[in-house]
Amino acid sequence: MRLWKTGPQRNIVLVRGEGNHVYDETGKRYLDLQSGYWCNVLGYDNPKIVKPMQEQFKRLTNVMSAFSTNEIKEAMNQLGKVLPPELDRISFLNSGSEAVDLALKIARAATDKTGLVVNERGYYGATAYTFSLCGAGRNTSYLPNPGELYTLPAPTPENCTGWSCLEPLKKLVQEGNDNIAAIIYEPVIGAGIFVPDIGYGEQLRKYADELGALLISNEVTVSPAKSGKWFAHQHDNVVPEILTLGKAIGCGFPVSCMITTGRVEEMCDGKIYHVQSHQNDALSGRAVATVIKTIMEEGLVDRCAEMGEYFLERFNEIKESYDCVVDARGRGLLLALQLGEEYAEQGEVIQWDLIDKGFLMDYHKASNSFRFFPPFTITQKEIDEFIKVLKESLSIHCG
Ligand SMILES: Cc1ncc(COP(=O)(O)O)c(C=O)c1O
Repeated sequence: MRLWKTGPQRNIVLVRGEGNHVYDETGKRYLDLQSGYWCNVLGYDNPKIVKPMQEQFKRLTNVMSAFSTNEIKEAMNQLGKVLPPELDRISFLNSGSEAVDLALKIARAATDKTGLVVNERGYYGATAYTFSLCGAGRNTSYLPNPGELYTLPAPTPENCTGWSCLEPLKKLVQEGNDNIAAIIYEPVIGAGIFVPDIGYGEQLRKYADELGALLISNEVTVSPAKSGKWFAHQHDNVVPEILTLGKAIGCGFPVSCMITTGRVEEMCDGKIYHVQSHQNDALSGRAVATVIKTIMEEGLVDRCAEMGEYFLERFNEIKESYDCVVDARGRGLLLALQLGEEYAEQGEVIQWDLIDKGFLMDYHKASNSFRFFPPFTITQKEIDEFIKVLKESLSIHCG
């Protein structure tokens, strides 16, 4: 038997993790600049996470959705300390895809409308419904037809002078479109790490209000803490009606959250049915409460901002010194380094060279960019070690 093919695979078998590193079966050590698949943000084998989760597995794991647990109550208590107060209705689910899927169902049910506004660079998930909204999933024969769908260009500096990337929304308002259920956006676009100017969320809020649509902030990849604020939409003065979280919220445990307001719950008027085996599990509650508490106790929101700034400064130095690098961008510990078009093919060569040298990192072909989602516990020394080896590789492979 072999795994269903999901993309390029190397014959590296990872056997354990410790702190910011993972080890393969030969004992080779790698600095994990990806936090697993952008999830394991508090380091591997962190006793602050491992001990409560071990204890929880023994005490109580999964319960029927008709019952509550102390763990879910504690997760809501911890989240309530850091979320905007309006966002006080929550469902704990298992994956980011599921949280986005439910957010979209809710938006359509609450508004009695079907149209959606998405981003051309956005990723929404792997379920049939969410993937049908992604660039690669649109207009395929094997996925549901996403219906009335409008796409915004990515908020890059070239695309978005004077908010020009929001022209399609202006047009929808001018045309009097009354069928838009939601505008769904990522405050930093994970697929390429595109960082909009401050004020982007407020612009979207304004258009959502004019269209009578809900604003969904999809923060599965970019929150909590990673962007240098608890939640990435908080870089703007805006509160979405729906917030989706995943990945880092469980720090390696598969849990996600769909969070919304009492008003949206009322608007749905009992129309939504979403019950699933592992919804609101005690284990999920314990994971979320533990992660939020640890981030708070260790001041990791500020640390993400500081380390991200340090990392980005090093990337900007690289951009000044290497012709093949055309852009360095980031917000907090969400970072990207982009190669020029003519060097696009070298990206994977450099990626695998660095993996061979002990640094797990990603190359996103669609944007010619190396992407970095390092753990919140990364140190300056580790960043410096990586930058040194990255420079050597860039010198060899793209001059
Ligand atoms: C922005 C965004 N939304 C949704 C998802 C789907 O999350 P998951 O892979 O946990 O289902 C991802 C995953 O990368 C994502 O980046």
